[in-house]
Amino acid sequence: MDIQVTTRPVRDVQCDAFIVGVARDEKMGPVLPTYAATVDRLLDGLISGLFTDGEFKGNLGEIVTLHTMGHLATRRVIVVGLGAQEKVTTQSIRRASAIAARHAQETGAHHLALALHWNTLSLDEEQSIQAQVESALLGLYTFRKYQHTEHNGNGKGVSQIRVLVEGTDKGSYEQAIYHGRVLAEATNFTRDLVNEPPNVLTPSELAHRAVTMAKHVGLEHEVLDKAKIEELHMGGLLGVSQGSAKPPRFIILRYQGAPHGTEKGLALVGKGITFDTGGISIKPAERMDEMKGDMAGAAAVLGAMQAIALLKPSINVTALIPTCENMPSSTAYRPGDILRIMNGKTIEIVNTDAEGRLILADALSYAAKEGLSPIIDLATLTGGIRVALGKIMTGLFCNDEQLTNEIIAAGRIAGEKFWPMPLDEEYKEQIKSDIADIKQTGGRYASSVTAAKILEQFVGNAKWAHLDIAGTSYLDSPKPYQEKGSTGVGVRTLTELVLRLAE
Ligand code: BES
Ligand code: MN
Ligand code: ZN
Repeated sequence: MDIQVTTRPVRDVQCDAFIVGVARDEKMGPVLPTYAATVDRLLDGLISGLFTDGEFKGNLGEIVTLHTMGHLATRRVIVVGLGAQEKVTTQSIRRASAIAARHAQETGAHHLALALHWNTLSLDEEQSIQAQVESALLGLYTFRKYQHTEHNGNGKGVSQIRVLVEGTDKGSYEQAIYHGRVLAEATNFTRDLVNEPPNVLTPSELAHRAVTMAKHVGLEHEVLDKAKIEELHMGGLLGVSQGSAKPPRFIILRYQGAPHGTEKGLALVGKGITFDTGGISIKPAERMDEMKGDMAGAAAVLGAMQAIALLKPSINVTALIPTCENMPSSTAYRPGDILRIMNGKTIEIVNTDAEGRLILADALSYAAKEGLSPIIDLATLTGGIRVALGKIMTGLFCNDEQLTNEIIAAGRIAGEKFWPMPLDEEYKEQIKSDIADIKQTGGRYASSVTAAKILEQFVGNAKWAHLDIAGTSYLDSPKPYQEKGSTGVGVRTLTELVLRLAE
């Protein structure tokens, strides 16, 4: 993708679709930022006329296409609504940009010009540029590699973007574009991993792609095979994987942004179940295909590591990814089994479908043993979190108030929402076992909380946050700004968080 800023006059910008943002005032009248005002003038008041006629109201994400009939170098202008003037934020710019870019691509555009930029409000120009570029690239994302071209217009998508700017600070604009691009490309890398079918994206293939990415951006990498995992006594990962013909892997990536510092730095841990059948406690057939996305936590950690390696904050970050398949077979682990996790604690298995906490227990033990802090894990861990928060917010469990606030704040900048969930000691009652240290599940009530309470017992003294992304990582129907399938949730928040922690 060729992305650059341009200071050309609106009339002369050559592209297939020129995208302008328009807001509305209290009286439902148009509020036209500079670029929209210029287009309006060049087209003899066409945009204001749409408001007068009630054809366009300026609602967030509303679009109308204008044909310029030779009045501008571009043949088409896509006017996109930014909503009520006083409520316009970078998040509105993001939504509008993604919706308009997607629409332009679907209607055949190859070259886009983005002019949503908002000058009459207190939005910083660099932030607006980053938001426009980032969200356009996210909106343009498709996953069509397994379809023939006639179905999908492969290779016919958008290949060039020009961002209109008013000022002259070229360096800072280029920085903003780079930042937006890195975050979007990392998110789309994550989405590709999640969208891949489970026959292709096996544990060893996930490791292979992690290593390829690591080499590409210059991260240290190490992949532990089954023998090494046995040596480390990772009984959770070994137990869950034993029903599959595909061996487990434990992926380690290291980013050394503060090589001379005394701090070990933080750990990012991701659940990497490449397919979750439920095992012997098998899941119903309906929608089981979506369980290819049970490695969305692992994929988000890999995406964040890619972005971190490119944005180079001064901090050390270690990614830890336990990955395997959860299958039923004659070699599978059973309800009734007792597994011994790397840190020595034992877990009584009651439902083989609660596999995520077992492989994470080993990875968290590993992180704690290395002295990493904070430890942040991402996992499609429980169906319960979808019941509690739906597909809008990610459940955030955290043993440190400051870290909670930092994650929520980073999410706000990244455009992702997190909601704090409890870790109260009384919930521990539900996971008491009669014959092992811990019982694997705590029953139907507060199942997301009891799952988090299990994880908590493997982090030692570290500050720790657990993000349950089972609701937010996957869309089963498309949104105007996003195609169905993986959302790449977590990548941008984790990256933003690491950048903030490095400061
Ligand atoms: N991977 C699932 C959780 C999940 C469900 C993710 C739906 C995305 C969509 C997890 O391994 C699981 O099966 N959890 C069970 C645990 C239960 C058996 C204690 C759940 O939450 O139902
Ligand atoms: Mn499961
Ligand atoms: Zn699972």
